[in-house]
Amino acid sequence: MAKAKLTKTRKHADPPSEPRAIPTVQDQEQRIVIDDAARTPTVVYFISGIFWLLAGSLFGMVTSLKFNLPDWLGETAALTFGRIRPAHLNTVAYGWISLTGAGMIAWLTARLCRVPLQLAWLHYIAAILWNLGVLAGTVAILAGYSQGFEWLEFPRAAGAPIALAFVLFAISIFQTFRKRQVDHLYVSLWYILASMLWFPYLYVVANLGIYQGVVEAAMNWWYGHNAIATWFTPIGLAGAYYFIPKVIGRPIYSYYLGLLGFWAFALFYNWNGIHHLVGGPLPTWLITVSIVASVMMVIPVMAVAVNHHLTTVNHFQMLKYSPTLRFVVFGSMCYTAVSFQGSLESIRSFQEVAHFTHYTIGHAHLGLYAFTSMVLFGAIYYIMPRLARWEWPYPGLIKAHFWMAAIGVFIYVVAMSIGGWYQGEMMNNAAIPFIEVVSFTEIYLWARSIGGALMVISHFIFAFQFFMIIKHAGPRRFAPALFRDRAPMEQEEREP
Ligand code: HEM
Repeated sequence: MAKAKLTKTRKHADPPSEPRAIPTVQDQEQRIVIDDAARTPTVVYFISGIFWLLAGSLFGMVTSLKFNLPDWLGETAALTFGRIRPAHLNTVAYGWISLTGAGMIAWLTARLCRVPLQLAWLHYIAAILWNLGVLAGTVAILAGYSQGFEWLEFPRAAGAPIALAFVLFAISIFQTFRKRQVDHLYVSLWYILASMLWFPYLYVVANLGIYQGVVEAAMNWWYGHNAIATWFTPIGLAGAYYFIPKVIGRPIYSYYLGLLGFWAFALFYNWNGIHHLVGGPLPTWLITVSIVASVMMVIPVMAVAVNHHLTTVNHFQMLKYSPTLRFVVFGSMCYTAVSFQGSLESIRSFQEVAHFTHYTIGHAHLGLYAFTSMVLFGAIYYIMPRLARWEWPYPGLIKAHFWMAAIGVFIYVVAMSIGGWYQGEMMNNAAIPFIEVVSFTEIYLWARSIGGALMVISHFIFAFQFFMIIKHAGPRRFAPALFRDRAPMEQEEREP
């Protein structure tokens, strides 16, 4: 195929309105050139991310069943609760979300900068180092070697290759940005570039191992919450800001609201972590500042919610057709929900009941699963047909994936929220023996396992479909795989 000329766009006097609705033939040729350069790194990140999704959710399932059958697998040290739980958290966070997010970012940055991915070879080294780090860290946790801090369980020897991989990854992203053929920056790029600066700094500083006592606890939650702020949330927001307007075929509702949301996010989010230590031996002012910043998060969250909702309004019928839109809009709504819930959870009187209960676990899955993971599923459903030049062979399985994941996480979050709240109320009542509280939560923990099982099955369905598109299985399709046949999809969805 003839190499399309990469043309620089005119400087806009108006706020940028990317992603554009109606691509020209030249735009389409340009996209093919850009996709060709990003193909292998993106697919490598996706394949390894999906591997960790399967491994991580099986670890999660086993962890959950241990609450129902406490003696199950208790004889094998590697499969005891204290090891398998952190193995679950670390594989889904640093394996599934991080590697798949890296693939999405590599593709998205090239598309938004309208230039082929630069220094693409760095991504092969980064992917190898990253996977080796996650593998070594997981084996170490299962073998009993852990740093002993939540979110930072991987021993530092396993964290080092991950940090190096991130730096190599970021160099390519910055170089692609430097060579950009556009004058204005789309909202998704702000979040991507910010995370390239924030996350490696955070990860390296937290892993220095020079903290002791109370400072160590403060550092732990400074890191734990900021990993979400500087990496997992920007992945989800960059995806949502791109795919919602892209699939609908109209610009984002307000560029200025996007600006407000981004800067308020940058200003307030990094103070949030210390709200995990309410009641702990830290200066009261420090905890209060963190609570105030957590409540102030309603500003960026409202800005994102209004922007996404007003972009989608009048186009909700497209949710019936587009798999990408359905996953991403679901994720975006859950972002609003989990963020408001987070602000509420930081308040002292709320924590008196909810802290140290199953309620927090429901919150974690509303964030990292219902928001970030669902946006990533939607992103993969959009990106892969463009890279594989093949369509998803079984649209019915995409529907099954969506409904099983959505219903599964709904059951999970509702069961943990209700069960966790009553658990907290009961634990605050000194007249109730602890074992009674444990028995009370049993039914909710079974509900969690049922919801979790639906999620795990949906992941295997997704992995099967992913494997089939790589194999170019099924008939060659000339239109996107949709939930229904005759869809009012926009031009972009029909693009090669
Ligand atoms: C991509 C999918 C998933 C992600 C991103 C995810 C994320 C997380 C996170 C962040 C935590 C730590 C929560 C905290 O400490 O507050 C956690 C714990 C946990 N997750 Fe998941 N999870 C996923 C899938 C699953 C699945 C499918 C199950 C199956 C039931 C599951 C069951 C659990 C359990 C039982 C815990 C430990 C709860 C506890 O210690 O009380 N997770 N997960």
